[in-house]
Order: sequence, then C-alpha cells, then structure tokens
Amino acid sequence: MATNRTFTMIKPDAVQNGYAGKILDQMTEAGFKVIALKYMQLDESTAGNFYGVHRERPFFNDLVTFMTSGPIYAAILEKENAVEDFRALIGATNPAEAAEGTIRQRFAKSIDANAVHGSDSDVNADIEGSFFFSQFERF
Ligand code: CMP
Repeated sequence: MATNRTFTMIKPDAVQNGYAGKILDQMTEAGFKVIALKYMQLDESTAGNFYGVHRERPFFNDLVTFMTSGPIYAAILEKENAVEDFRALIGATNPAEAAEGTIRQRFAKSIDANAVHGSDSDVNADIEGSFFFSQFERF
C-alpha cells in the first residue's frame, strides 16, 4: 500500500491566503484520492519532530516557526505512483523554480512559505502518514 500513497500538508501561508480549497481541488483533479484529512495547528514540539531530519539545517528554526504560525491541513493521498506524481504536481521546493501550473508555482511565494509539503519517498510517506493518522482515521 505504501507505494501508492503519499503524505501532504497544506501549509499556513496557503491556508491563510484562502487557497486550501483550490489546492485540494487541484490534487483531486489530478487523480489523488483523499484517504485521511485533518485541519489542525502544529505546536513547536510536533513540528520539530516532524521535520527532525532538518534539525541541523540553518533554516530549521524558521521552518518550525513558520509551520506553527497558523492552521494546516494534513492529508494522506492515494494514487498509482503517488510520491513521484505528487512531487511533479506540487513543483520544485523553491516556487521560483517551480514549473508552470504546479501548485507551488500557482500558490506559493517563497521557499519557506511554499504552500504544500509532499513526501520525498515511499518510506517517508509511510512514516509521515503514520505520524499524523491512526488506522481508524484512514478510509
Ligand atoms: P518541505 O517539503 O515541507 O520540507 C522542508 C521545508 O523546509 C521545505 O519544504 C521548505 O519549505 C523549507 N526550506 C526552507 N529553506 C530550505 C532550503 N534551503 N532547502 C530545502 N528546504 C527549505
């Protein structure tokens, strides 16, 4: 199953700017099925743990501050080749480098406020999905 699923967050900038509905629509129009969905605000410890792999990077503190600055949507999505296809759909991490029509090109302003997160591997998709959702929250 893990190979057909990915994990995403619609980040505080996109929620604050009122883009969550349009972004979810672009995801489902692209063929991703919503398996689990939550609207929530991360606290410092949760955001720090989620992004723990970046703890030593210079942008870590800014990342945690940003990700706790407002509510997010967290979701597990399903589609054949989910991880790779979803990364193509959202575009490059830096919206300035994101291809035309991708979610980050359309809705993001900067590498920090880049509208959405997408898992970078099947293993991480599984880890990240389980970080947010129990088996009783997946449909
Ligand atoms: P995301 O896919 O959620 O994973 C880590 C986040 O760190 C990334 O999106 C960016 O929003 C943020 N970030 C800030 N600076 C950088 C950087 N130089 N390289 C990678 N990610 C960065």
